[in-house]
Amino acid sequence: MSVTAQPSDGLSQDDLYAAAENALPGAGLGGYSLPEDVRFVIAEARGARLISADGREYVDYVGGAGANIVGANHPQVVAAVQAQATKGLHFFGTLNSTAIRLAERLIELIPCAEKLVFTTTGSEATAYAMRMARAFTGRERILKFEGAYHGNHDYASFSQFPAGPANYPLASADSGGVPMPLQSTMLVAPYNDLEVVESVVREHSSELAAIIVEPVQRVIFPDDGFLAGLRRIADQNHVLLIFDEVVTGFRLALGGAQEYFGVRPDLASYGKIVGGGGPLGAVAGREDIVELTNPRNKGNSDYAYINGTFHGNPVAAAAALATLDVLSEPGFHRRLNARAKRFYGDMQSVLQRHAIPAMVTGHASFWQFLFAGQAPRSQLDVLASDLERSKALDLELLRCGVYVLPNVRRFVSAVHTDEDLRFTLAALDAACEQLNRSINNG
Ligand SMILES: Cc1ncc(COP(=O)(O)O)c(C=O)c1O
Repeated sequence: MSVTAQPSDGLSQDDLYAAAENALPGAGLGGYSLPEDVRFVIAEARGARLISADGREYVDYVGGAGANIVGANHPQVVAAVQAQATKGLHFFGTLNSTAIRLAERLIELIPCAEKLVFTTTGSEATAYAMRMARAFTGRERILKFEGAYHGNHDYASFSQFPAGPANYPLASADSGGVPMPLQSTMLVAPYNDLEVVESVVREHSSELAAIIVEPVQRVIFPDDGFLAGLRRIADQNHVLLIFDEVVTGFRLALGGAQEYFGVRPDLASYGKIVGGGGPLGAVAGREDIVELTNPRNKGNSDYAYINGTFHGNPVAAAAALATLDVLSEPGFHRRLNARAKRFYGDMQSVLQRHAIPAMVTGHASFWQFLFAGQAPRSQLDVLASDLERSKALDLELLRCGVYVLPNVRRFVSAVHTDEDLRFTLAALDAACEQLNRSINNG
């Protein structure tokens, strides 16, 4: 962790944290609150490096929760945002030309997209996809997978963080404040288990609107045929299939998981990369479903209401178009994924050198450490791994100047340089040494 010139906004990191402790729960911006000795305030980004308010430099693998596939301040994206900002930051009620151009571009790129609606976040996108599915089928229940994250809304707040084996398909609420009547609208199955999915869907098909799945659930890759199996089960039982492509969209491939795995859902929800680092999401899919949101149909019983002050925000749309230009350069994903794969191999060698019994669960450009003997197939496999030790390793990495969130999936971006990756391997070396030392000391 190198120390560079002090950023010039005047307040020290300690001052900023004192203010944050007073104003923000856990001195954080949401679900994460790092221990005091590793937490830092971001002052600015330079490529894949972050500079903290006390002038320390970190190699960033959090990448804006995956949104920053071309880094946090890519010159093309910054230029597009600046150009749009001078023409207007925000409008509402009628169209803006940047949002129309983005809609056209997304329909070209997303295999299932015949039409789409914009949202502001990925959470909104999954909530609206569920609403559309319910409006289309006239049924209320949605099947999700144990451990899957679909955002912060009430319907998504079931069975993300199971403590142990569940009584499928009973969903359990993860948060206070979630109304209990919603529990009966959500069903849960284990990821990668087509047998359980098939029996739940068959039993509940008359009340089931859709299956929603993260095509790659956190760091769990789908078994061969799992996604195609979901498509078959959905078709045979006349329920819809929703891909939550908030993370996989534009990252696995330009056409997301649908292109990568060759399985086409009825609807797909987007966030993160689709906004190019700005707040923007989308739900794309079959025209006959997405058309239910057509405001000309207000008053119809199957009209699905969609509206948001910032939907189709022109600055985020400009950032998105510029980002998609970068991602559309020939070989972008092939290069990124191949580079990431070599990096995972190099990290694995470091772990082995220190006899650390962990694996780098890496696929395409996302990865995580897991203290487990084999790649997980379900959330229960993840829970069975030694999460305390992977957390300890992640915290050591943070101390060594590599920004990861403990036990959270992280990302390689297109702006990680060879020097960034080398720095990370050296930091991992030091982190492993420290981890072994603390285990030996007891
Ligand atoms: C798969 C998935 N779906 C939905 C969301 C929610 O997106 P947002 O945080 O933009 O609301 C996330 C966010 O991490 C996600 O990973």
